[in-house]
Amino acid sequence: MCGIVGYIGDREAFPILIKGLQRLEYRGYDSAGVALISDASELQIYKKKGKVSELMAATTSQNRSGRIGIGHTRWATHGEPNDINSHPHSSQNKNLVIIHNGIIENYAALKSGLSKRGHTFISDTDTEVLIHLIEDIKEHEGLKLGHAVQAALRQVVGAYAIVVMDKEDPETLVAAKKGSPMVIGIGSTGDFFIASDASPIVEYTKNVVYLEDEQVAVLRKGKALKIRNLKDKEITPYVQKLTIELEAIEKGGYDHFMLKEIYEQPRSIKDSMRGRLIADEAKVQLGGIVDYEAHFKQAKRIIIIGCGTSWHAGLVGEYLFEELARIPVEVEYASEFRYRNPILFSDDIVIAVSQSGETADTLAAIELAKQKGAKIIGICNVVGSSIARASHAGSYTHAGPEIGVASTKAFTAQVTVLTLMALHIARLKAGISDSRYRQMLYEMETIPAKVEAVLKTSPSIKDIASTYKDVKNALYLGRGITFPVALEGALKLKEISYIHAEGYPAAEMKHGPIALIDEDMPVVVIATKGANYEKVLSNIQEVKARKGKIIAVVTEGDTEVKSMADHCIEIPETDEYLSPLLSVIPLQLLSYEIAVMRGCNVDQPRNLAKSVTVE
Ligand code: G6P
Repeated sequence: MCGIVGYIGDREAFPILIKGLQRLEYRGYDSAGVALISDASELQIYKKKGKVSELMAATTSQNRSGRIGIGHTRWATHGEPNDINSHPHSSQNKNLVIIHNGIIENYAALKSGLSKRGHTFISDTDTEVLIHLIEDIKEHEGLKLGHAVQAALRQVVGAYAIVVMDKEDPETLVAAKKGSPMVIGIGSTGDFFIASDASPIVEYTKNVVYLEDEQVAVLRKGKALKIRNLKDKEITPYVQKLTIELEAIEKGGYDHFMLKEIYEQPRSIKDSMRGRLIADEAKVQLGGIVDYEAHFKQAKRIIIIGCGTSWHAGLVGEYLFEELARIPVEVEYASEFRYRNPILFSDDIVIAVSQSGETADTLAAIELAKQKGAKIIGICNVVGSSIARASHAGSYTHAGPEIGVASTKAFTAQVTVLTLMALHIARLKAGISDSRYRQMLYEMETIPAKVEAVLKTSPSIKDIASTYKDVKNALYLGRGITFPVALEGALKLKEISYIHAEGYPAAEMKHGPIALIDEDMPVVVIATKGANYEKVLSNIQEVKARKGKIIAVVTEGDTEVKSMADHCIEIPETDEYLSPLLSVIPLQLLSYEIAVMRGCNVDQPRNLAKSVTVE
């Protein structure tokens, strides 16, 4: 979490930094700040609790000039969100300033050592300790900034992406990273851009270098980019071309990124399948895992790890792999898996699912699984992300940038890739009949058009939203492969509208949640046609008998549920194992509409962040 940006060149830095911070606000938005060095070598720091727009408004009458600067948008870890704890932070002599994403785990020990040497601190942050440490080393050892940063980072335990600026040397920015992402854009006029992801950079240049862990970059205006690792070995920068386009990270006429991303799903699902699903030839091609097909065939077990929505996609994957490929699957929260000394075998396959590819717990779980000899297959959205790089092999989801904090199109893209993978492995293992395999491939091809049809139900979903927008609680029920969809629907409602919601397997309702049901309780039931359809009908009766309100997601043409439910949302018929790709869409729309009606900040819900790079 936290977004960082930096610029050095001939242009005015402030507008570049502010625009960049706004693009990174999905990473955190407790507070924002910038530091600039003017042409007269004056250092200005503006920082403030609240959103980037508030920082902008508060500084309109200030001198915001300067061709070198750094900016930060914060998701608080150490110290509450307030003006003082906001970044940038300054060193003791106020010459050095820093922005930081990550956590310095040994900050308390470092702080006490520095205090003994006369340093005083004004914030509660770990970041301020780091800039004091850099200054301490720089002054005492007479080092240049880049070397002082290297030396300081050798003492640091934890994760960081930092940019440091020195008032005394307004021609240089120093950036470093470990465990938190950082991209350096190389401009065409000797200028450089730094950011947590490529979105602030793409407007200015397509040439980027992804900094690797424990690398320190020195950026000097008009000079070549210099990178060294913490052992002072020079690294040749590997310049890559960005493939994302500017339009992909803008709202494109929608009120919110979340709505845009919900509506992008026909396209994003198609992109996830592009070149991989060739129904006419009865073929699935997943180039990224070709070298690991033999491992999949031999695997006695698959463990899927992830967090949040990605964990839900993993649960859908469990049903898919077990049903189609007949391989036992366990789905684990990455944060639990990494700390419970899990038993792993060298023939286990671990599939790590992550939109951002930067989630700290998932990354740490991968490292643990690797140490224990398992093979890691990554399913990530962000190309070149840490998880993608840490995996042995994998398949990108190709959903395009997801900016809304509540994940939507990333979920359907993850489920699409998991479905393709399960079908492909099933075929390799001869665990699926030829006719079912072919039928499912043809059916998958129709999914984008069917998602389009589901999106057309939006007016009726808006009506349902207006009826229930003021409830305090909601229950989401599903059975079999729609159970994870119920979990995902509940999560969407919770995270953006702050209504307490729980997802449950429909039959488990009797063991607790049924006690909550009364005439005020909406119960969203996924009651599409499938093996458990009749059972779900009984669960609906149980809710109705207790006067609960039923909002049912049903298969087109269903009359039975219609006769019992208070509201029905129809989705096109499809194979039961592909149905999550359709049934989740109305739940995304329902939570979106409710959140808008409640006046919530849909794209930036309170306390959340898009990319959770702290554990
Ligand atoms: C955060 C986001 C969620 C996301 C989860 C896992 O909580 O708000 O939308 O599902 O992290 O993130 P990942 O990038 O690993 O999928």
